[in-house]
Amino acid sequence: MTKFEQSERLKKLPPYLFVRLEELTAAKKKEGADIIDFGIGDPDLPASEKVIKAMQIAAEANENQKYSSSQGEKFLRDSVAKWYRKRFSVDLDPDTQVCITIGSKEAIFNISQAFVNPGEKIIAPSPGYPVYSGASTLFNEAECVEVPLRESQNWLLDLSECPVDAKMLYLNYPNNPTGATCDLEYLHKVYDWCGKTDTILCYDNAYSEMCFDGYRAPSALQAGPDCIEFGSFSKTFNMTGFRLGYAVGHPDLVGGLKKCKGQTDSGAPVFIQKAGAVALDAYSDDGTTPKGVQANMDILAERRRVLVNGLNDLGYKVAMPRGTFYVWFNSGVGSMEFTEKMLELGIVVTPGSGFGKSAEGYVRMAVTEPVERIREALNRMKKAQDINK
Ligand SMILES: Cc1ncc(COP(=O)(O)O)c(C=O)c1O
Repeated sequence: MTKFEQSERLKKLPPYLFVRLEELTAAKKKEGADIIDFGIGDPDLPASEKVIKAMQIAAEANENQKYSSSQGEKFLRDSVAKWYRKRFSVDLDPDTQVCITIGSKEAIFNISQAFVNPGEKIIAPSPGYPVYSGASTLFNEAECVEVPLRESQNWLLDLSECPVDAKMLYLNYPNNPTGATCDLEYLHKVYDWCGKTDTILCYDNAYSEMCFDGYRAPSALQAGPDCIEFGSFSKTFNMTGFRLGYAVGHPDLVGGLKKCKGQTDSGAPVFIQKAGAVALDAYSDDGTTPKGVQANMDILAERRRVLVNGLNDLGYKVAMPRGTFYVWFNSGVGSMEFTEKMLELGIVVTPGSGFGKSAEGYVRMAVTEPVERIREALNRMKKAQDINK
């Protein structure tokens, strides 16, 4: 068979973390292991019945079976703009400041294609969502500057460590993988710094609605209009497989993204966008979270409590996160070593080192299993500890 050579760019790209993890898990399952999976941040709970029904009905109508536009349908851009008013008291023009995306991942990648020239710097917090330092920089021939986040600073990016000559900064709170959160005051500081240094602020707010204990995540657009923010239906509404998100912000930034998308995709399916509008419109006018979403967060909060307390009982030092559905802690050994040991127990976790070199030793567990399974995993870990004593 002929051998096909990957481009030099693609060769530089490390294998996507979760692909490798899926392979290891599949091999373990093949051996017949009873797997408890805290690996990928994919909610186990279903999307709401109302949302699914809306999608089914919409999918039957011929007008919803055609190409959408790469910027998304007007009705959903309107819904997103209304939601920003309800939730963050931010006004957006749905025609120039909102773009519907095929999940937020593609927009996080495409924004760099739209604004960064080869050789220019992109700041990627480390640990961080792998796309920032991966495809966003490598496919763009940009230079990635990984700036470490530190536990001692509550995992908040320290601006004094960031280069002042970068083109773009990716930032994400509530944070994957650390579960760290920030307040609006911090976002004001970041926003002002980006203004002074002429750096494009790309704020990844995929977990804005995954908040606990009364905390509500802010939007970077509350700090000011000169940035772009990415949001997602994936985690808030258990809609990961629907592939639906949005990008909002400065018209030039949203416009650049739209131009890029115009060449690379033809928009999310219209019937999926219909479902998205139903999900988003369920927020009250005063921004109160819909009952269904809140019930979902209550389940995750309880799982998080059981897992964090259980891990602390086992001797790990684990903080109770106020956002995301991730539990993040120092395993005390190498990230991969811990991950492999856990896999031997039939427990899938994500090695922190996959999110950046500075997270070596850390591990991420997503609370995507019910409480009984979390307790079962903790029991297995306890037994393994007792044997090794
Ligand atoms: C920080 C962060 N941003 C963006 C995404 C992408 O989400 P989606 O493409 O499903 O909207 C994820 C998914 O895990 C994430 O953790």
